[in-house]
Amino acid sequence: MKDRMPLYFFLSSMLVMVLFLAAIVQATRPPWKNYQGRFYQLEAQQEPNAAAKSAVLKTPATINQIILPGLHRVDRCTTCHMGVDDPTMKKAPQPFTYHANVALHPPSKFGCTVCHGGQGLGTELKDAHGDVEHWEQPLLPRSYVRASCGQCHTRGDIPGVPELTEGRRLFDTHGCRGCHKLSGIGGTIGPDLTHEGSTRRDPLWLEQHFLNPQKVSPTSAMPNYKFTAEQAKDLTFYMLSLTGEEMGSYYTSKSVIPSVTYGRQLFAEKNCISCHAIGGAGNKTGPDLAGVMDRHTADWLDEHFVSPTLVVPNSTMPAYDLDPNARAALIRFMGTATAADAQTFLAGRTSPLTAQDSAVEAGKMAFEHYGCVGCHGIGAVGGLPNPNSQGGQVPSLIHVADDYKKGEVEALIKKGKMPPLADPKKPAPPLYMPSWKGTVNDEDVKNIVEYLWSLRPKETSTW
Ligand code: HEC
Ligand code: HEC
Ligand code: HEC
Ligand code: HEC
Ligand code: HEC
Ligand code: HEC
Repeated sequence: MKDRMPLYFFLSSMLVMVLFLAAIVQATRPPWKNYQGRFYQLEAQQEPNAAAKSAVLKTPATINQIILPGLHRVDRCTTCHMGVDDPTMKKAPQPFTYHANVALHPPSKFGCTVCHGGQGLGTELKDAHGDVEHWEQPLLPRSYVRASCGQCHTRGDIPGVPELTEGRRLFDTHGCRGCHKLSGIGGTIGPDLTHEGSTRRDPLWLEQHFLNPQKVSPTSAMPNYKFTAEQAKDLTFYMLSLTGEEMGSYYTSKSVIPSVTYGRQLFAEKNCISCHAIGGAGNKTGPDLAGVMDRHTADWLDEHFVSPTLVVPNSTMPAYDLDPNARAALIRFMGTATAADAQTFLAGRTSPLTAQDSAVEAGKMAFEHYGCVGCHGIGAVGGLPNPNSQGGQVPSLIHVADDYKKGEVEALIKKGKMPPLADPKKPAPPLYMPSWKGTVNDEDVKNIVEYLWSLRPKETSTW
């Protein structure tokens, strides 16, 4: 027994040695090399002759990394996902499959993690897919990847992602900002949502929370809005897109995608139908827009939006403060617009279109353009503090129609007005109504008054 000891010792050290060597081999041949080997085998199958085949098979294994300074990340996903931009790999198994729609956001400029999450630097499956502790961004489940589009395309309609458009709309119309800050604006009762998409990335949690906040956070002050499953998903998409990440200017250059759908939405929002007909339906203050693309180039139309009077002297069309992508969207829409579109806009109005409407629309634009909104607020609702004026605030203009005649308001706008003091012993209020004579022309003053009259609450209202 005793003399066998050295043999055992010898055998066990041999075993340690073998394991040690195996570990070295393993380390020098990590799994990603196996993936690359398999990828080159697939590629070699397509080669016509033996020489070309063996050349492909001899390609040395390398870590592929994409350095993305504008996105503050380095992505190595293409170390394994080698076929993403190779259309011949459409039928190849993962991780080699060709990536649909890759041309819009080429991997060399976008990498992968900005849309998918995961850990860009990882080269092991679990690390890379973010399946590890202390990594806050695991891969988004497949059906939520499209939420990421909203990080860069922050406004308007994103083709193929209706959830984001609807999610943003629900957010804006449900008073969420009353309790939540987003990008600096909003209340403080609930958490700040500016980074919600990077701090709270679990889509299921978010969805459950929207369906029933108290079920997830028992003492929550958040109202149960009785959202449908679809609405909860739309809001979840929007939340996931709020990563609050700084991105290089190239990446946000297409914040608005100039789609026909977004153009249609703008045309409705800006109420263009109040001055223009399409194929006969609508107002006749400006030209009928049917066939407008045959009369003008896209460049002409673009310049015309920026400054109608520069292109058409004496034009009474308001200048629109739209970014280039929004102008492109309107132009795309006009290229497709028909009388049926015009009918839809007309049907969507709360009151029928009248000849007056073009003046109202021009007045609204002038009200914004000359900065009346600065003191009287968007929609002329008033409310800006003005200490020691009667009421203590810049007045709302919604009820001027009840207190004045049109001529009186025109005169008041031209002449200006000092607010009467609430307490004669205290200093005069900081804000007063300036005289606009000489700044705003008579026609625009008339238009503004028409606009203010249009704000008068309708008697037919259902409240
Ligand atoms: C070590 C090789 C490897 C690396 C590195 C890698 N992947 Fe994968 N990936 C795979 C394999 C293998 C599959 C298919 C099997 C699976 O899903 O686990 C896959 C599947 C996927 C899928 C589809 C399956 C799913 O869960 O939705 C996505 C998306 C994906 N990878 C994204 C990424 C991203 C993003 C990165 C970079 C952060 C990355 N991968 C890095 C090997 C890799
Ligand atoms: C612009 C955003 C974007 C970028 C960048 C992007 N992807 Fe994707 N990817 C998507 C979308 C969207 C899908 C489709 C998800 C679906 O089916 O709804 C997808 C699908 C995939 C799938 C298939 C998932 C499955 O379950 O079949 C894989 C794998 C994948 N991407 C990997 C990558 C890799 C690797 C990169 C980097 C080279 C990358 N993606 C870059 C948006 C992106
Ligand atoms: C990291 C920022 C970023 C993300 C995320 C992103 N995009 Fe983009 N997108 C861009 C930029 C920048 C361009 C313009 C690319 C170029 O032409 O140089 C663009 C272009 C586009 C275009 C073409 C616009 C045109 O001119 O017609 C479409 C469509 C589009 N993106 C849709 C999507 C969708 C869908 C997703 C999500 C799957 C997405 N994008 C995610 C930044 C982004
Ligand atoms: C009356 C105030 C109030 C309103 C209105 C409100 N919330 Fe909340 N919300 C809260 C409070 C308080 C919490 C924290 C407790 C909890 O998790 O429910 C919260 C939590 C959240 C969270 C989870 C944040 C996190 O990371 O923990 C999200 C997301 C959210 N709200 C979104 C919304 C959206 C979207 C709306 C509008 C549809 C909305 N909230 C309206 C009060 C409100
Ligand atoms: C207050 C009335 C008014 C509003 C509102 C208005 N326009 Fe105009 N528009 C005009 C007038 C007047 C002209 C003719 C003079 C000119 O070409 O500038 C015109 C001209 C045009 C033209 C050139 C048509 C041609 O055949 O030469 C286009 C295109 C156009 N408008 C598009 C729009 C769009 C899109 C909107 C909404 C974003 C809009 N307009 C809003 C009054 C208006
Ligand atoms: C610098 C701030 C400021 C700006 C800019 C301003 N206003 Fe005023 N406006 C006031 C104040 C303050 C009053 C209240 C005067 C008073 O107490 O009688 C007022 C009063 C008015 C009134 C009378 C309201 C009433 O009920 O008596 C009208 C109408 C009006 N403004 C229209 C306009 C229009 C149109 C513009 C843009 C062309 C404009 N204002 C721009 C501060 C401003």
